[in-house]
Amino acid sequence: MAQFKEISPNAPAGEKLLNWIDNRFPLSKLYKEHMSEYYAPKNFNLWYIFGSLSLLVLVIQIVTGIFLVMNYKPDAALAFASVEYIMRDVPWGWLIRYMHSTGASAFFIVVYLHMFRGLMYGSYRKPRELVWIFGCAIFLALMAEAFMGYLLPWGQMSYWGAQVIVNLFSAIPFIGPDLALLIRGDFVVGDATLNRFFSFHVIAVPLVLLGLVVAHIIALHEVGSNNPDGVEIKGPNAPKDAHGKPLDGIPFHPYYSVHDILAVSVFLMAFSAIIFFAPEFGGYFLEYNNFIPADPLKTPPHIAPVWYFTPFYSMLRAITSVRNDCA
Ligand code: HEM
Repeated sequence: MAQFKEISPNAPAGEKLLNWIDNRFPLSKLYKEHMSEYYAPKNFNLWYIFGSLSLLVLVIQIVTGIFLVMNYKPDAALAFASVEYIMRDVPWGWLIRYMHSTGASAFFIVVYLHMFRGLMYGSYRKPRELVWIFGCAIFLALMAEAFMGYLLPWGQMSYWGAQVIVNLFSAIPFIGPDLALLIRGDFVVGDATLNRFFSFHVIAVPLVLLGLVVAHIIALHEVGSNNPDGVEIKGPNAPKDAHGKPLDGIPFHPYYSVHDILAVSVFLMAFSAIIFFAPEFGGYFLEYNNFIPADPLKTPPHIAPVWYFTPFYSMLRAITSVRNDCA
């Protein structure tokens, strides 16, 4: 157990409270280790803001998601109308829904840029392999999260997109057809599918995502950040001052915390501009076919996934045997 620290009875109330907490929970220790005494390279450039922005979008998605669930109905007969109800009748419902739908695309924009930076500067190499592996798992979880969320408005694109992608699993040898049945919960996409996707979208995958993000940051803080010049500020060979602090580093707080506030402000300006002036973003963020309720008897002529899945959809279409099986 850590040493119990006594404090003067005349100390200010705030200091006394902090001391009381610190004697029971390592609050100041964590703050020092991860903020005020966490050293980051001096030479970060623009590419290094996308990690913080990913965190911001994660918080936006969770908070707006909580409010959407208060009025959304995960029932094939009610889902589409409940989203219309949120858009038209729930106070500020349109804002919450547009924040969430724009947030989904924003998430992929910032995460793709974040990954591109990692590839560009070799941040996946020793000693950051686990940071990268946790990142890859985050990306997979994010794709599952977005795919299952897309079914929930129960529009034509939600329905037929899910139909195509779930059928993909039936192309897996031996277990494929049973696996597709297990995912759907029925022989066609239906109420059972909507219910299980809802459950995964609102609780199971977000929990996994949060756990992975915490692991990603703990792993990063263990090894320290890379930077555009590849200078290592940690480790035995890194230049240090008399107190053992890295000469090529600066404390995350206040230097990068303040720096990130600037990036967050610019990001929120662009994010608000889209929400208030172009929430559908020309059919890229909200597809026009999804304003038509799901109709299992009418396949839309062009089924196209949302933009962030298009590379994967093209790969799928290039494999003709799979395409013939499922679309
Ligand atoms: C929810 C999604 C994610 C969040 C919240 C997140 C958060 C962060 C944060 C805050 C940092 C430190 C700041 C920075 O370097 O930008 C970071 C670094 C890093 N992330 Fe992520 N990340 C996410 C997804 C990913 C993905 C999908 C990958 C790759 C597959 C990835 C790979 C990395 C790497 C390699 C670093 C270290 C970069 C360097 O030091 O040069 N991250 N992440």
